[in-house]
Amino acid sequence: MMWRSQIAGCGGYLPERIVTNDELAARLDTSDAWIRQRTGIGERRIAAPGELTSDLAVAAATSALEHAGMSGSDLDLIVLATATPDRTFPSTAVKVQARLGMKRGAAFDVQAVCSGFIFALATADNALRLGQARTALVIGAETFSRILDWNDRGTCVLFGDGAGAVVLNAVPLGNGGSASRGVLSTHLHSDGRQHDILYVDGGPSSTGTAGCLRMEGREVFRQAIQHLTEVVDEALAANGLSPADIDWLVPHQANTRIIDAVGRKLGLAPERTIVTIERHANTSAASIPLALAEAVADGRIRAGHLVVMEALGGGLTWGASVVRW
Ligand code: ACO
Repeated sequence: MMWRSQIAGCGGYLPERIVTNDELAARLDTSDAWIRQRTGIGERRIAAPGELTSDLAVAAATSALEHAGMSGSDLDLIVLATATPDRTFPSTAVKVQARLGMKRGAAFDVQAVCSGFIFALATADNALRLGQARTALVIGAETFSRILDWNDRGTCVLFGDGAGAVVLNAVPLGNGGSASRGVLSTHLHSDGRQHDILYVDGGPSSTGTAGCLRMEGREVFRQAIQHLTEVVDEALAANGLSPADIDWLVPHQANTRIIDAVGRKLGLAPERTIVTIERHANTSAASIPLALAEAVADGRIRAGHLVVMEALGGGLTWGASVVRW
């Protein structure tokens, strides 16, 4: 039997505390105007003391399960994308598994930084296609506020905390019209030669500390536009589609200038791109599922729409997924 993954529900969670650009400008040499103009970011959410990546993940997962009309005991797979796990080990996914009351199947984390959600979605989709699991939860959850150098204006203004999740159901292929919906493809890439243009300068095996995010912003920016345009083209071609077929582009939310440049290169009208960066900033692996949850809740993304997601992050890693909603 051949299977396809269909999206059964999605949800998101943002910590309560809003930190505006003006609040950052009060203690750093920066300004609301600079941040908005260079990045499109207006504010970000920051997790409360003691509020962990797993707490954000459980909140997003609970909302996605509710939306799907399911509970944790219906799941047999959790793939959680994060670069900011609660602990070095075990995975954040197993804490989420326990808190959702899921007692079977498997839960694990994947690490592809800002591309993490696409990598996690591909991993879960492959398991469902192979019949290894029937119902999967794919989560992107991050607390980047904990790995920022709050004295480095070039990086700390860019990120926020949050989590998003989608529930996938395996449906048999060839089952009339319904199987034309679902995850049509996932394409993943990495280039390890670029591991040191965006990284965290700590870790259990090197410094024994968590470390802080470091980035050559201009180089990441340049490579992002090139790789993201290529991977969307690759994803569309693999499905015999063109940019005109896209109902919604849901990009990783790193910088509006990157999002706009990729949209322009694809010839997409700006209204067809889901943009949350003004309120969320860059939430790394959480940004795509958070954007999906918003656009589904407000009725923009509807059944039958063609949704293309794309992301690039540290590694470098990048990828795209095409979903018939
Ligand atoms: N406020 C004011 N000035 C600043 C700030 C700030 N927050 N940050 C940097 N500057 C200054 C710099 O010091 C520099 O000053 P100088 O000319 O006196 O040296 C000047 O602004 C220009 O700096 P650049 O780094 O060249 O500015 P740029 O236009 O490239 O914008 C940015 C920086 C926003 C980081 C951009 O390079 C970028 O977005 N890169 C993509 C990286 C990214 O989004 N990474 C996120 C993780 S990866 C991902 O998710 C895709």
